[in-house]
Amino acid sequence: MGSGDWMAKAIKSAKTATDCYHREEYGEAAVAYLEAASCLTQVVDSVADKKVRQKAAERAQEYICMVKRIRQRKTSGEGRCRESQGGGGDTGASGGFEGGRDEDSQSPRDQLGDGDGGGGDGEDAVVGGRSPGSHRPVIRDEEVDEEVIPTYAPNEVDGSVKVEDLIGMGRAKELFESRLGMPILFPQLFKPYGAMSRSTGLLLYGPPGTGKTQLVNAIASLYKCPLYVVTPADVVDKWVGDSPKNIREVFAAARALSVKNPDTTPIIFIDEIDCLAAKRDSSDSESSKQIKAELLNQMTICTRPTAPVIVIGATNRPGDIDDAVMRRLPTHIYAPLPDVGDREKILRKVLGGLGAQLSDADYSAAAAVTDMYSGADLVSLAGTIQERVLGRLKDCTHMRWVKGPDDVQRMQPCSPGAEDAFPMAAMETDRPGDVLAPPIQASDLRASLAERKPTATAAMVAEYTQWQERR
Ligand SMILES: Nc1ncnc2c1ncn2[C@@H]1O[C@H](COP(=O)(O)OP(=O)(O)OP(=O)(O)O)[C@@H](O)[C@H]1O
Ligand SMILES: [Mg+2]
Repeated sequence: MGSGDWMAKAIKSAKTATDCYHREEYGEAAVAYLEAASCLTQVVDSVADKKVRQKAAERAQEYICMVKRIRQRKTSGEGRCRESQGGGGDTGASGGFEGGRDEDSQSPRDQLGDGDGGGGDGEDAVVGGRSPGSHRPVIRDEEVDEEVIPTYAPNEVDGSVKVEDLIGMGRAKELFESRLGMPILFPQLFKPYGAMSRSTGLLLYGPPGTGKTQLVNAIASLYKCPLYVVTPADVVDKWVGDSPKNIREVFAAARALSVKNPDTTPIIFIDEIDCLAAKRDSSDSESSKQIKAELLNQMTICTRPTAPVIVIGATNRPGDIDDAVMRRLPTHIYAPLPDVGDREKILRKVLGGLGAQLSDADYSAAAAVTDMYSGADLVSLAGTIQERVLGRLKDCTHMRWVKGPDDVQRMQPCSPGAEDAFPMAAMETDRPGDVLAPPIQASDLRASLAERKPTATAAMVAEYTQWQERR
């Protein structure tokens, strides 16, 4: 569906929601508001115009706020809400009201405020405006601010990251795909086995730079799974003081999407999960305790059949993770360092991308001496080589014409004795745009290897093995 279709669906659902609300059918209203919010989340995801995205996100936020308001109303008024999910009012997404209307409650209009919304066209239904005489809910800004639930649109997945671009990774890719790919592609076949089979909790672990984060992105892109990423940086920088609430809301947004669009399997990816969910100890700060409690609570809710969401954690330090969190991530997949064959492939790919024309012997020699290097180490080695090569540019005195990667004749620095060399300092040319980088030589590769050491150590790798054996 395109963004226009999602918008149309959002408008329809928002209208249904307001109508239900007016008829005091609050359960239905909550479901329809949630539907409108999910559709708007899709609009946010698919539309390029920044303003439209922002507006859609704001509206979705308001609708989720409405759902929460309805639920709270029922919970506080009658205590008959089917599930109380802790942590102060989860938006739920599964509806689930059993009772009717509170007799002593305010009318929807009273309760929601009597704003002066705009006209009554379809767009206004979505924006929550109120045409004269209608009872469309209008949410006053100050009310929204009070208990606003930010709508977490899924993160933008970099579609250019492909599973096949990740070289090697032992059995990680295969295991990851089989654990996630089948349930995502054929959800109906997995349903009979219960919620857990779809709501996979999975931990990806291994040395730094082995492609864990890339793999999650690639899988989300391959299966078109909305991806919600939670990183310690978000929690520390953006959510400071409000982390449990934000964690709750990210999970709620993913569940809402899952409920409203059963063909979609949202993934919540908690990168560097050891930082957020380290083993509990008595010296934990209050905020750290709250974050862990909220993560646990939300991961538990995710296993319910009403709103299956896949939770993936990634870490370099699996042994540091809290045991209760580990129990909610029952599948463990190891992303190893590349072996010699894979290192050669990675080097060929990254250096080939820089136009290096090294011999097979150069590549296999480099692969042989890069034991313990991760994929990321090898990629950054290419950066070191590039710097080194470009450093030669300013000292060059001669050039020659060669065919560039775009098949156009370009000038490339060369030694004065090279065939067809002509005197020309790169710094003096009046055609700098035609200058190619000096060619990468085997000596550049060797010198850069001597400069760059691997991030992982043998002791680190041994720890993973011990950890696997202990489990
Ligand atoms: N097996 C691989 N094949 C190709 N490129 C790789 C591989 N492993 C890592 N890379 C490169 O390294 C970069 C870093 O990878 P990524 O961030 O996914 O590693 P990570 O395992 O999540 O690291 P960390 O544990 O530090 O978070 C990627 O952009 C990718 O280019
Ligand atoms: Mg990572």
